[in-house]
Amino acid sequence: EGSLITLALESSCDETSVAVVRNGREVLSNIISSQVDLHKKFGGVVPEVASRKHIENISCVIDEALEEANITFKDVDMIGVTYGPGLVGALLVGLSTAKALAYSLNVPLVGVNHIEGHIYANFIEHKELKPPFICLIVSGGHTHLVHMKDYGVYEVLGKTRDDAAGEAFDKVARALGLGYPGGPLIDNLSKKGNKEAINFPRTYLEDKSLDFSFSGLKSAVLNYLNNNRQKGIEISVEDVAASFQQAVIDVLVDKTITAAKRCSVKKIVLAGGVAANSGLRELLTARCREEGFELKYPSLRLCTDNAAMIGCAAYYDYIKGYRADMYLNAVPNLKL
Ligand code: KG4
Ligand code: ZN
Repeated sequence: EGSLITLALESSCDETSVAVVRNGREVLSNIISSQVDLHKKFGGVVPEVASRKHIENISCVIDEALEEANITFKDVDMIGVTYGPGLVGALLVGLSTAKALAYSLNVPLVGVNHIEGHIYANFIEHKELKPPFICLIVSGGHTHLVHMKDYGVYEVLGKTRDDAAGEAFDKVARALGLGYPGGPLIDNLSKKGNKEAINFPRTYLEDKSLDFSFSGLKSAVLNYLNNNRQKGIEISVEDVAASFQQAVIDVLVDKTITAAKRCSVKKIVLAGGVAANSGLRELLTARCREEGFELKYPSLRLCTDNAAMIGCAAYYDYIKGYRADMYLNAVPNLKL
């Protein structure tokens, strides 16, 4: 009857999420239980605390996802689950639950790469979107520039050599005393600041390289703050936020446009938590218009970690014939 229902689980970091997805792109429910408040007081995600909270949460989140989708376990045709990259203890909670479900319901299990999941968020948002395209994946853990040639077929053109873009946002936010997660806070403050106030370094690396590096920029911001604080000079948090954000965005946008030109691809896709950044969306939109590229990005809720994107990726892996068995293990440093 052409209807395949995926129950998808995501627990790679600090979000316990469960979704019900029909035929890959139709989201019947996408429940996200965030642990952000729990980790806030530590200024970042504490892995052991995250694992324990996932265990507490996951059954309830599954029930909620089924209820909102108005289905029961009997309607589930397959299980999709993130098996890496991420925090090993956190991943194992989702993975063990997924295996138990697949075994007891006697349905196929499909393991999903979390980075791939972020890309697939775009297929949910944009029903007509198809590869090939260039995808910039920017999150708390990853900064990848990828040529997606077909479903499941990727050429990694560049990635970060040190900090991920989101990590840089979070670390700078912490130095500014803003709290966690820092990305959205810096994004908001930037709107009130002058992005040309401070000329922070843009790291392009070797000529033609599509790799990224954000640790130098992060150090430059920390040095700027320390120097001014030592001298008793007043700091404009808004200007620092805006200038830092612009330095990140300039490099991300330049390299993405270069990648699209080099691969002769007309479509560009944004993914990952930092894809929620308003400055990045604005500048990339403007540059794509100038250069004649089509740009797609997911809505804010689908940018950050969620299980719907995992359900979508699992469906396309399933169509390709991929099945996992009960030996599937968590792979904390899984590559795309
Ligand atoms: O994709 P995600 O939810 O988790 C990972 O897989 O890492 O991304 C989280 C990251 C965090 O570093 C957060 O600060 C960043 O995305 N982020 C943002 C914004 N919203 C979330 N960074 C910049 N601007 C935003 N509006
Ligand atoms: Zn993520």
